[in-house]
Amino acid sequence: MAKKKGRLDFVNMKKNGEQVTWVTAYDFPMASFVEAAGIDMILVGDSLGMITLGYDSTIPVTMEDCISHCKAVRRGAPNTFVMGDMPFGSYQKSDEQAVENAVRFFKEANVDAIKLEGGVRVESRIKAMADAGMLVCGHIGLTPQSSGPLGGFKAQGLDPESARYVIEDALAVERAGAYALLVEAIPPELTQFIAKKLSIPVYSIGGGGPCDGQLLICGDMIGMFQAFTPKFVKVYANVAETITNAFKEYADDVRTGKFPGEEHCYRVRKGMEEEYAAMLKEYE
Ligand code: KIV
Repeated sequence: MAKKKGRLDFVNMKKNGEQVTWVTAYDFPMASFVEAAGIDMILVGDSLGMITLGYDSTIPVTMEDCISHCKAVRRGAPNTFVMGDMPFGSYQKSDEQAVENAVRFFKEANVDAIKLEGGVRVESRIKAMADAGMLVCGHIGLTPQSSGPLGGFKAQGLDPESARYVIEDALAVERAGAYALLVEAIPPELTQFIAKKLSIPVYSIGGGGPCDGQLLICGDMIGMFQAFTPKFVKVYANVAETITNAFKEYADDVRTGKFPGEEHCYRVRKGMEEEYAAMLKEYE
């Protein structure tokens, strides 16, 4: 079993040009598959609201949802770096509220780091959490919790003026003391520029290749989430089809008497068959 990686490993990987592999997971089985695959980091994203709870955005997700899913993931992947995601409403009010809720992730779910969305506008939140001794990852570009004000799930930084906002956000995240940054749905030129400019690791989801590692949402990459698939996703499996076919085959087997078979049945104790049949007869 590979040793669990920590912040210094990720700093060294950036120095050595080694790519970090990162996926989301939300429950025990998925986390154990991720760990078995040797992936470096798990994000228990608030995307759990859409992928596992059936909401049409991440907005309804609560602290309780996040903590409970982080605990399940920690149990499934005890040797993998796990990051909790701060849900909408858990850090918007004040620096104090942000610190209090971030602390809950570490104390109750034993995560290794937390992530929150935003750059310049959450600079003081990141600073407060980092000053309190927590590993904080920034998240800029397309930030799903603000998909309303951003006009939907849309790529960001496509023109010079909006790219400037993304750069200012990146600089704010590093200045505030975050240990890493995630950029989402921005052009590769901008991702590469930010990864070179910052000394902290810069990871991408939908930001192209030239940075320090890649994140994908498990439900997208294994074909489990069916509402839509973002352009930046490479689909590696069709789990939805595999599972649906298994259920269909099972239903067919039950209806036609093919299941259960001999091999699925418990047998009466050897030598007691006649006595057993006689006992049943008494009740006829
Ligand atoms: O919740 C999540 O999975 C995320 C990704 C979109 C980066 O924040």
